[in-house]
Amino acid sequence: MNQANLIILVLFYSRHGATRKLAELIAQGVESVPGCDARLRTVPAVSTVTEATEPDVPDEGAPYVELDDLAECAGLAVGSPTRFGNMASAMKYFWDGTAAQWLSGALAGKPACVFTSTGSLHGGQESTLLSMMIPLFHHGLMVLGLPYTNPELMTTASGGTPYGASHWSGLDGKKTITEDEKRLAIALGRRLAETAVKLRAIA
Ligand SMILES: Cc1cc2nc3c(=O)[nH]c(=O)nc-3n(C[C@H](O)[C@H](O)[C@H](O)COP(=O)(O)O)c2cc1C
Repeated sequence: MNQANLIILVLFYSRHGATRKLAELIAQGVESVPGCDARLRTVPAVSTVTEATEPDVPDEGAPYVELDDLAECAGLAVGSPTRFGNMASAMKYFWDGTAAQWLSGALAGKPACVFTSTGSLHGGQESTLLSMMIPLFHHGLMVLGLPYTNPELMTTASGGTPYGASHWSGLDGKKTITEDEKRLAIALGRRLAETAVKLRAIA
């Protein structure tokens, strides 16, 4: 009997597009694994101006994530631009609305990984990646990094870390994704999807 494809949720926030490009590469890695479909989803911006609102449906790009996406996915990649060495408030705000999923264990036992983009090379990629993992541990997700069997971890002169995929977008945000960053993002998506497939086989 044919099994339904596994859904791997690639959830990201991106203001200027750099983190979105990483999300698309991770989705490419996910879809390189037979039996896995990437589901790209984003979160709305938050504002200190309480009257400011976002449209119900984004004007372009990935749809907004729904809480059902968390229950339906077999694995989860989470990405955010670095903001003062941490995830953007839009992503944190999303997690703060997931108490019901935390209580029900909707994500417990599923594999996960993280990714980020920074304006400066030493502006907090690792701190953002590590702190983005914290709510994932609370949800019971099994967080994956990248092993040094990926040779690009030794050669990269920009982003790409053992804690997750990353990109150095430059102060003007215009640096293109390097070959090393690209390979590592695809490898992370592939590793996430392969792990979800292995976990299904032993469930
Ligand atoms: C409020 C704010 C805080 C930021 N903090 C950092 C930071 O701590 N370190 C850094 O390298 N870049 C920082 N940046 C730059 C962004 O991380 C960078 O431009 C990123 O690539 C944007 O991703 P995006 O194109 O997906 O929005 C900050 C940007 C903003 C607007």
